[in-house]
Amino acid sequence: MGITVRELRKEDIAELCRIEAASFSMPWSEKDFHDLLTHSYCCYVVAEEDGKVIGCCGFTDSLHEGNIDNVVVEEAHRGKGVAQTMLRELIARGEDRGIEAFTLEVRVSNEAAIHVYEKLGFHSVGIRPRFYERPVEDAMIMWR
Ligand SMILES: CC(C)(COP(=O)(O)OP(=O)(O)OC[C@H]1O[C@@H](n2cnc3c(N)ncnc32)[C@H](O)[C@@H]1OP(=O)(O)O)[C@@H](O)C(=O)NCCC(=O)NCCS
Repeated sequence: MGITVRELRKEDIAELCRIEAASFSMPWSEKDFHDLLTHSYCCYVVAEEDGKVIGCCGFTDSLHEGNIDNVVVEEAHRGKGVAQTMLRELIARGEDRGIEAFTLEVRVSNEAAIHVYEKLGFHSVGIRPRFYERPVEDAMIMWR
């Protein structure tokens, strides 16, 4: 598998928005991505195969805690370990800048994502009721 993980650049944003729109009921806009590129406390990476962006994930550094969000892999490339590869690299980058703990929220029905996060050492610490919209659903809060 020729997957490369590198930092997000502005020329990736249009393609990422296409992947997001196909994957989330409330996808991020191009402006959302452009804004985070201007914040030094945000760290986002993309996965690339043969020069094509196929996924992304990132964190916001909040007082040395990394809040991970926007974990997504293009549907045609799922099940090949791309999310695990991206997240391992993201966590390594966070640790390099002194982040000791990472957290994220995930829909309680999202078994594939929960499986990935547990494989990477995250565990559930509780439920945030009705956290998500479209459709309304509880979030599992996970920490690593
Ligand atoms: C969640 C997501 C990012 C995973 O990406 P991916 O590249 O397919 O993940 P990986 O290939 O690294 O790992 C998938 C793992 O989940 C497992 N899996 C797949 N479907 C599963 C299911 N229904 N239940 C449990 N495990 C499942 C796979 O077997 C694999 O585990 P393994 O390595 O032990 O075999 C991807 O499915 C996605 O983009 N989903 C839509 C967006 C989303 O829900 N993002 C998460 C928001 S919190």
